[in-house]
Amino acid sequence: MMAPALARTAVGYDTASVRADFPILAREVHGHRLAYLDSAASAQRPRAVIEAVDHYETHCHANVHRGVHALSQAATDAFEGARERVRRFLNARSAKEIIFTRGTTEAINLVAHAWARPRLGPGDEILITWLEHHANIVPWQMACAATGATLKVAPIDERGELRFDEFEALLSPRTRLVAVAQVSNALGTVLPVARIVKAAHARGVPVLLDGAQGVPHGGADLQALDCDFYAFSAHKLYGPTGIGVLYGREALLREMPPWQGGGDMILSVSFSGTTYNDLPWKFEAGTPNMSGAVGLAAAIDYLEDLGAAAVHAHEQRLLAQATTAALEVPGLRVIGTAADKAAVLSFTIEGIHPHDLGTILDSEGVAIRTGHHCAMPVMDFFGLPATARASFACYNDDADVSQLIGALHKAREVFA
Ligand code: ALA
Repeated sequence: MMAPALARTAVGYDTASVRADFPILAREVHGHRLAYLDSAASAQRPRAVIEAVDHYETHCHANVHRGVHALSQAATDAFEGARERVRRFLNARSAKEIIFTRGTTEAINLVAHAWARPRLGPGDEILITWLEHHANIVPWQMACAATGATLKVAPIDERGELRFDEFEALLSPRTRLVAVAQVSNALGTVLPVARIVKAAHARGVPVLLDGAQGVPHGGADLQALDCDFYAFSAHKLYGPTGIGVLYGREALLREMPPWQGGGDMILSVSFSGTTYNDLPWKFEAGTPNMSGAVGLAAAIDYLEDLGAAAVHAHEQRLLAQATTAALEVPGLRVIGTAADKAAVLSFTIEGIHPHDLGTILDSEGVAIRTGHHCAMPVMDFFGLPATARASFACYNDDADVSQLIGALHKAREVFA
């Protein structure tokens, strides 16, 4: 992953103060200190995000782009200011390229509807990988079903790494789009997105990156990544739920028709025809999630203040520590052993169903996710119905790792 400049943490990562920034981490669960290890599903919010949303709701809320009154202008300034903040964070060339959506899933669906469907026909191909989340599989299946196009899937190996040669071999003259995760949510594998983009572009094929799991663990410099579409959700980046972003290259977005009709995406409407709005509003029908956008901007401020590189290094240290200790738990098998992994530890323990494991860990104050992680093909590849998954974020510490490992040993005893 890319490594942005170190910020305030150059002399060391102050985990205690970071943890203290997240009020929810002070609560107890079943009489235990909370070890929150489910940030890949949804990260917690720092006080700065909670306060920014509260400030917006208390002082600025009204509908955007519509009123001349002071509150409408305050809300519009806050919303469009958040868009500019996202643009800077992503190093996109223009705020016209930043579309607010409900999250990663809606962003990918937008591209599937407005970019892919009008271009696809029988014999055309969309290329994804075996590592994708359902949100980067199902919209393409639906687009293929509607157009007669074919979904191609590049395989992975037993470590959970993309077989790059096979991916490259699947790029054909009929490939219309490559859509891949930056990081696998189920295994933590960091995909070689720079090579993927280069190989696709060499054949004139645009690339969509699902950045839901990538952006919290190293950020995304879109001019360096050079992808054509990029999708992420705020709630995995310490921001609110119900808000996310689609970045699209301006030239591509201009060619695309709107995908939902309604307010804000029009310039004028009459029964003889409608004139659509300019970018980015052409893709933002209806009243948007203003407080969510404000919260996302505050989350970006927070993460950049910590320093994405410092957070990344901290998470990698915890991942290594947890992996080493977990491997001492009898019967534990790590699922996903890629050389380059984000802060995800997916595993099974012989003789214990992952859901039972999750329940026992919960009773010890340890929150992990168990199940197929919305990535059933990955589970099928490993011949598993489910795994247990611990995921690490900026606020986790050594005590969380000890609590996880202690609870895993306890679960072993329960099922011995
Ligand atoms: N996609 C989310 C996860 O990985 C919900 O848990």
